Amino acid sequence: MPASPYPHFSIRPVGAADTPALHALEQACFDSDRLSRRRLRHWVAAENRVFLVAEREEQLLGYVLVLLRRGTRLARLYSLAVGPRGRGQGIGKALLSAAEEASSHSGRLFMRLEVAEDNRAAIALYQQLGYRTFGSYANYYEDDGNALRMQKRIRYRPENLLSARVPWYGQTTDFTCGPAAAMMAMAALDADYRPSASEELALWREATTIFMTSGTGGCHPIGLALAMRARGFDCAVYLNQRTPLFADSVRTQAKRAVIARVDADFRSAAATAGIPVIEREFTQEQLQQWLEEGALALLLISTYRLDGKKVPHWVTLTGIDGECLYVHDPDSDDEQNPLDSRDLPIAREDFVSMSLFGKEKLRTAVLIRKSSKDY
Ligand SMILES: CC(C)(COP(=O)(O)OP(=O)(O)OC[C@H]1O[C@@H](n2cnc3c(N)ncnc32)[C@H](O)[C@@H]1OP(=O)(O)O)[C@@H](O)C(=O)NCCC(=O)NCCS
Repeated sequence: MPASPYPHFSIRPVGAADTPALHALEQACFDSDRLSRRRLRHWVAAENRVFLVAEREEQLLGYVLVLLRRGTRLARLYSLAVGPRGRGQGIGKALLSAAEEASSHSGRLFMRLEVAEDNRAAIALYQQLGYRTFGSYANYYEDDGNALRMQKRIRYRPENLLSARVPWYGQTTDFTCGPAAAMMAMAALDADYRPSASEELALWREATTIFMTSGTGGCHPIGLALAMRARGFDCAVYLNQRTPLFADSVRTQAKRAVIARVDADFRSAAATAGIPVIEREFTQEQLQQWLEEGALALLLISTYRLDGKKVPHWVTLTGIDGECLYVHDPDSDDEQNPLDSRDLPIAREDFVSMSLFGKEKLRTAVLIRKSSKDY
């Protein structure tokens, strides 16, 4: 057995013999919402969980229980407790870190938890490990206390991924995801290329559909390809729709006519510029191959699964492995710490529906590379 990385305690998977000690720990650590002996026995025997204990000289010091519900990429921290004798020695932190690693190995992308809003010790621990508050529940506990909901991404871009390191750039307006995604790709392919807020708007003026949904238009894939071609990059567009893109997203006939004209102009400009517009679905295997060949791709996704809004959104593909696609999302809700927007993992099976937009089931990608090559 490998030596414990912690000098004063060790961490191991729970065993059936631990139940009495776990029950005693539960009594010592919680005043309400305790796990009953029966529930403890259930989770000790269950499979869809991570259940670890910390011990010293065969004394149980603490435990962590994470539930891995089937059909979701979320792991849920169900309970974390360190008995009074073990506190303040890094045991809680070590247990949670070990549980994150085990959950990540089981294919989970995010860890979520609820914590009583007045539990200062636990909140400080979670914050130290990188958890962020994203909501709350009123009257969540038996004593009517409120709970904070916190989340952390536990799967990062694996070391062995294929693509070049792509610098992250945060969009500065809510309609310039396309230009921001394009700038990330261009900066990755050419060290001399400098993203800037002016360049972001310049790209948008070249690539916009003018109108989209209820407001200012986002960017058309062919528009983005033309704009990147104008900056010396080689591009191709995969596009499964012949009719004007996003025309259904606006209400008036006049706006639809503008969108249709812009769409037609982009298509004829692509033909003149020799930019291939490939009217086929692209596959995840193709994406992987393009990355291996040194190309990058801008992908249009629906943000529905990310934030519940059905908004078309451009992201830059940065990597792909057996389970996930990794993207740089130019939209960050935390400007100070945009870590969660970098190499954001999207499970392969989720990407299939995320990359379809609207009633027309638009699926599109813009391929970009430095030098000319056949696609
Ligand atoms: C919360 C709990 C698990 C922490 O366990 P622990 O082993 O003492 O924590 P650690 O020693 O690993 O401390 C890690 C970090 O947590 C924070 N922390 C821990 N105890 C703290 C306290 N009493 N006050 C403020 N912050 C505290 C600190 O940020 C600490 O980092 P630092 O040592 O660098 O300052 C433990 O206090 C406990 O079991 N409490 C009762 C049960 C509970 O509330 N569980 C969480 C339910 S959501």
